Amino acid sequence: MKPATRVFSGIQPTGNLHLGNYLGAIRNWVAMQDAHESIFCVVDLHAITVAQDPAVLRRGIREMTAALLASGLDPARCILFPQSAVRVHAELAWVLMCTARVGWLNRMTQFKDKAGKDREGASVGLYTYPVLQAADILAYKATHVPVGDDQKQHLELARDIAAKFNNDHGVELFPLPEPVIEGPATRVMSLRDGTAKMSKSDPSDASRINLTDDADSIAQKIRRAKTDPEPLPSEIAGLAGRPEAANLVGLMAALTGRSAAQVLGDYGGQGFGQFKPALAEAMVAAIAPITARFNELRHDDVALDAVLAAGAERARAIAEPVLAEVHRAVGFRD
Ligand code: TYM
Repeated sequence: MKPATRVFSGIQPTGNLHLGNYLGAIRNWVAMQDAHESIFCVVDLHAITVAQDPAVLRRGIREMTAALLASGLDPARCILFPQSAVRVHAELAWVLMCTARVGWLNRMTQFKDKAGKDREGASVGLYTYPVLQAADILAYKATHVPVGDDQKQHLELARDIAAKFNNDHGVELFPLPEPVIEGPATRVMSLRDGTAKMSKSDPSDASRINLTDDADSIAQKIRRAKTDPEPLPSEIAGLAGRPEAANLVGLMAALTGRSAAQVLGDYGGQGFGQFKPALAEAMVAAIAPITARFNELRHDDVALDAVLAAGAERARAIAEPVLAEVHRAVGFRD
């Protein structure tokens, strides 16, 4: 029987899994794998849109796999695989590059951010990155895509590409994928600057909590996290114009399963001197078990490679027939 829903999402294998990835996306992946057919991808093709040391990338693919398993993905309940092992992604991306319009890509803010001032020197891959992302999703006819807030624009593009492909070729081949951007931490901000998102590419390690950080470094990073001198407000409205305070309150809410309003109900009127140790404690409680499992898994290359190879085989079995339909729709075959 055809499942009514199919979940797909991806993560780059560059750098550590950080709290933004975990609270913004991975936790939702783990929750969705039971209720839906779920496919999760370590997007190594996307990683090479900027320069990579091959040995570091190789290690990064395995470590990201270990981190995802440690976070609760279960290969018995989901498909987990590396993007480069399923050729359909690259092949479908080419076809979809002929569907997407240059004007659409020119509007992508992430390209502008990542390319910075030297746009002429950016790789063509960085520019067409969102088309590959659309191919990832559409190769599986995914219906739901759990991501953090920063992926919203890329998902709108994937929907536009799907709709245009269907329309151009007179088919109902691709469902329009729904972004799933849910929870109290869809946009976790840097601990050093409440207006910048927490990111693996931030040069300051103090800006983010990595899932490999131990209790001492988590406590230290939270102690040093930028704040303002005011005590916490008792109402959400009092967080307006206080991005650092809003971020820490949002983190507390996400980590303890409460709403931000409930957190303020408990801590309103207190200073950060009281709030920060409680936040660090909640963070350590959430992260320590993941770190422990990650450390058990991370060096077992044979086991990690076996998970990825089995996942890739299952992924291929879904994606190859979809590519065959695409080939028929565009006229490559009968
Ligand atoms: P990536 O590797 O940057 O991030 C992986 C996931 O983590 C989320 N995320 C955050 N959520 C909240 N706060 C933050 N500070 C934060 N930082 C990262 C991201 O939104 C993402 O969900 N282009 C994608 C990978 C990708 C993909 C796909 C995703 C490739 N193909 C197909 C969905 C579907 C990326 O670079 O994510």
